[in-house]
Amino acid sequence: MMFENYVDIHTIQEIRARSLVYFGCGAIQKMNDIAAELKKRGIEKVMILTSKSAYKGSGAWEPTVDALEKNGIAYVHFDGVIPNPTTDSIDEATKAARDFGAQALIGIGGGSPIDVAKSVAILLEYPNETGESLYCYRFTPEKAVPIVAINLTHGTGTECDRVAVASVADKNYKPAIAYECIYPEWAIDDPELMLTLPPKHILYTSVDAVNHVVEAATTTCTNPFAITLAREVIALVHKNLPIALADPKDLAARYNLAYAALLAGISFDNGFLHLTHALEHPLSAVKPNLTHGLGLAMLLPAVVNAIYPARAAVLADILAPMVPGLKACPCEAETAAKAVEKWLFSVGADRKLADEGFTQESIAQLVELTQTTPSLPVLLSVSPVEAATELIAKIYTDSLTPFEA
Ligand SMILES: [Fe+2]
Repeated sequence: MMFENYVDIHTIQEIRARSLVYFGCGAIQKMNDIAAELKKRGIEKVMILTSKSAYKGSGAWEPTVDALEKNGIAYVHFDGVIPNPTTDSIDEATKAARDFGAQALIGIGGGSPIDVAKSVAILLEYPNETGESLYCYRFTPEKAVPIVAINLTHGTGTECDRVAVASVADKNYKPAIAYECIYPEWAIDDPELMLTLPPKHILYTSVDAVNHVVEAATTTCTNPFAITLAREVIALVHKNLPIALADPKDLAARYNLAYAALLAGISFDNGFLHLTHALEHPLSAVKPNLTHGLGLAMLLPAVVNAIYPARAAVLADILAPMVPGLKACPCEAETAAKAVEKWLFSVGADRKLADEGFTQESIAQLVELTQTTPSLPVLLSVSPVEAATELIAKIYTDSLTPFEA
């Protein structure tokens, strides 16, 4: 974290991931450049996607519509994005976009509005397809209209990756898709827009970022880049999350958490994900009100316990800020798992599956969903330990109550 003393958080940086990410306080001003570029490409109509209210008061709305109006781009606002969006809600948004003739999409929000924007961006190019056919892998998209991601949280990484997630209505499926064509062309990570994020989401979005790198650094297909980013992400979150929770207006801490989340998104775009996400998606598919980051927090200690022996060196290294003193011995699995849980509890992520209404009887259905939900078997296939049925069931069982109990 050598940058902290030398980087002015009010300078807008251009961070070139696959997406061009305008990063820093005030980055929302870059909507002017983005709108001008859209206009230059002949785009006359865009749809802005948001949830009902999270974007209000964030400071993102006015600069966005001002930039569109200044450049003579017409827009329609779809504000029906729901948390844990379903394929039905994607169809509703797609219909509105098709009716309006939208040629590009702007998602303002956390993961849900941006992921719905990505999904609609594909469906605009495939008029005969639906949200369900997209998320049940009935076709392979190769094109999408341009996507602008204005990120209001610091967790998902969706502003800079090729992944989107939605639940398939009536099936308890919450698959992920990953296609080259849905990298947002432009992303805005402006920490000032994140200041209205409720404390619960400051916590759980950052926990999401931590999980992204613990998994990305330990898959069987990881690469050195994903691991290098993982080390920095955990150090940044470990240092800055308690500061942001104590004072949500601490802009430097929020900047660092946003940077950590961006790096984590790039890390898992490279290294992919495995057990924690594969086991979490069924939780929030069965209970749509369950926050993704909370689901991950409940599972992480048991996943660390399961994978540590197979990836002791990497985990001892990247977890060092929150679990100092690990020697990379496979025998430390339980020590590492308990220490990770202690850290999670220390920042307020102290709930377990039983607290959210899951029981031993829930586990058979959850295990089955990890194995039958489209895309999740792919995540299981890159786990550093074989994701056998018994192991998946054990992770759920171990996550019902605190590890120390
Ligand atoms: Fe995630």
